[in-house]
Amino acid sequence: MALPKIRILATGGTIAGEADPGNDGGRYRAGVRPVTALLAAVPELDGIARLDAEQILALDSKDMGPDGWLCLLSAARRALADAQVDGLVILHGTDTLEESAYFLHLALPAGKPVVLTGAMRPADHPEADGPANLRAAVSLAASAGAADKGVLVVMNAQAHGARDLIKARTTGLDAFEAGQPWATSRPDGRFATLTPSILPRVDILPGYAGAPAMLIDACVADGARGLVLALTGHGSVPKAWEPALLRARTQGVAILRASRCSGPVIRNANADDDGAGWLTAGDLPPPKARVALMLALAAGWDADTLQTRLPGF
Ligand code: SIN
Repeated sequence: MALPKIRILATGGTIAGEADPGNDGGRYRAGVRPVTALLAAVPELDGIARLDAEQILALDSKDMGPDGWLCLLSAARRALADAQVDGLVILHGTDTLEESAYFLHLALPAGKPVVLTGAMRPADHPEADGPANLRAAVSLAASAGAADKGVLVVMNAQAHGARDLIKARTTGLDAFEAGQPWATSRPDGRFATLTPSILPRVDILPGYAGAPAMLIDACVADGARGLVLALTGHGSVPKAWEPALLRARTQGVAILRASRCSGPVIRNANADDDGAGWLTAGDLPPPKARVALMLALAAGWDADTLQTRLPGF
């Protein structure tokens, strides 16, 4: 029986990183090694799947943004629509991996396996973790059990669903956490038919003791169509922010309450969300709530649809 055909899409990251020759302090540059070299370093992949590969981007993922997501989305949709392709593996930097993974989770059709992976150590590290992560990601994408799970992420011999995964630590091979086992993941794909050429700008504003309201006006004046408030505690809006938020709402800017803590922001529980016309993030962390809001605004959801459907993400 023929091995499954897996397409690899490479975007850069530490998995494609190399020591910086201009720096002897242990710094490295992400996204410099081409995908062909990454695959050649793991010859046993040939016994797991038939592979082809595309170098989509070559970034440190701190520089990933909405344009990169759209580029990745169109390559991923093209791959999944190819009847010859059984599954997809995406190589990505770990810093914003959870945002790209969640974006794709919402915007790709359910069905064929889609698995993201990266690495915490660069490719030329003597104990690089990239090859093992790549092997595990290809094995998962080649397995029937990974179909219809939505987007999955493999790191450090563990798989996670894109919705719940976060990078929780700056260092260490165990940098990622997710509450749920991957096998219980459900596909989403609610924006699978949306084909945006741009994504509306949504900014995240941090809540902290004494945070100034002028950041709200500055974001709106600079073109933001939505604001995700990464607030303290269970999503408490500082009194000093209320006039600026009212001004923003009057201009049609979507306001979404989220928390800098983990755990839910409950609608109308400690703010008059219905009265103020604010959205709530539930248990989605601010960066993922932003991704969802960008897609919802791109889809042209009106205020009522946003209020009823967005908290359910
Ligand atoms: C990046 O996110 O591209 C750099 C950091 C990493 O991949 O671990």
